[in-house]
Amino acid sequence: MTSAADIRIRAATESDWPAIELLDSVAFGYHPVPEERTLAKALMRVEDMVLATDDGHPVGLAAHLPLEVTVPGGQQLPTRGVSWVSVAPTHRRRGVLRAMFGHLHQQIAATGVPLSALTASDAGIYGRFGYGPATVAADVTLDRRFARFRGDAPDPGGVRLADATSAARHLPEVYDRWRRIAPGAQARPKPHWDFTFADPEGNRQGGSALFFLLHADGYAMFRRRGEDGQRTAVVEELVAATDGAHAALWRALCGLDLMDHVEASVHAADPLRLMLTDSRLVRTTRVADDLWLRIMDVPAALEARTYAADLDTVIEVRDPYLDAGGTFALTVRDGHAQCRRTDTAPRIALDLDVLGSVYLGDHRIRPFAAAGRVRAASDRDLAQFDSAFASDRPAVLGWGF
Ligand SMILES: CC(C)(COP(=O)(O)OP(=O)(O)OC[C@H]1O[C@@H](n2cnc3c(N)ncnc32)[C@H](O)[C@@H]1OP(=O)(O)O)[C@@H](O)C(=O)NCCC(=O)NCCS
Repeated sequence: MTSAADIRIRAATESDWPAIELLDSVAFGYHPVPEERTLAKALMRVEDMVLATDDGHPVGLAAHLPLEVTVPGGQQLPTRGVSWVSVAPTHRRRGVLRAMFGHLHQQIAATGVPLSALTASDAGIYGRFGYGPATVAADVTLDRRFARFRGDAPDPGGVRLADATSAARHLPEVYDRWRRIAPGAQARPKPHWDFTFADPEGNRQGGSALFFLLHADGYAMFRRRGEDGQRTAVVEELVAATDGAHAALWRALCGLDLMDHVEASVHAADPLRLMLTDSRLVRTTRVADDLWLRIMDVPAALEARTYAADLDTVIEVRDPYLDAGGTFALTVRDGHAQCRRTDTAPRIALDLDVLGSVYLGDHRIRPFAAAGRVRAASDRDLAQFDSAFASDRPAVLGWGF
């Protein structure tokens, strides 16, 4: 059996594309449609892909691509998105991923970005590399047949139907406005929009082509799944830059009389159920992590976001993987932070993945302390940290990279 010592790590080249596709499709169990190939080549530079080879044959792949991620307060931080991670089933659990990640993170560190991000197929893999889940997504099913809006629920209107051509003119601008105020959301490159509007049949998972609802400050795109008696409108994306757009779009979705259910992925604090006379009609079927963050540069990341309360603390951050950790004095005044390395004794000690989890304000620090993942000099230290790191906007994953 091959051991890690027999594995070579190298940058990919153009001639590796067939092997790259094969590794990815075997690992994730799909055959890419031609539009996915075009998208991958447009989004990813081959020199940002790391290959593991055994006797010259590619057996592992990991890549990183440029992103821009919004943090609380609205700054957009240059970020590397880690994607296309797979190891051949013939070479699992002998250190191939660890070896590839070493090279990949050297490359990421060399770009100087304060953040690195990914979405995870399995929650057990990436904590050891300093990544923590930073957003929470809830899959919900609404039994639309019985949904009634409360008398005081907003009814601003302003939604119109659109075909894909008209949606293509409207959506990117609305998304871009929204993502600049939504912590976690990323700039979305044009090739990804082209792929979205091309809506290849092989990517619809048995659903219809996309339908679009447009609002001046938002949009929804959905497909129909199922036949008579079990028809579901599956919302692929609902973006609302204002509460009015959110209410108007959900009212329009609830107007789809021949759909029995509406399925969507929303933030756990989404106000839809509060607008209905029967809140239980919105059933949560799954709650899961979404965007994972690794803080590559603690002072740069902590100074980039804004805070909800003043703070004077010293945090010890342990990075079990690279050297982003250390002890930092963190001072917040009027929402803005200064973060400097210090020799002062820490008031709060936590691992880098936990800092990644609480960074966008979606996860709070107290449950981590209760779980033994954070040590604080006193409960007051914890409470002050918690108040400062809160964010008034829920964090979200913008698009799945
Ligand atoms: C996930 C995957 C890339 C791991 O590759 P690998 O070469 O087997 O991983 P390694 O042997 O280098 O393991 C590195 C560490 O991660 C752990 N690990 C790897 N896969 C894991 C998993 N699925 N769950 C929990 N831990 C995992 C290993 O135990 C090891 O821990 P240690 O070094 O701290 O002892 C591989 O299983 C795979 O390709 N899976 C299918 C595709 C996929 O899920 N990709 C990830 C997309 S986000």
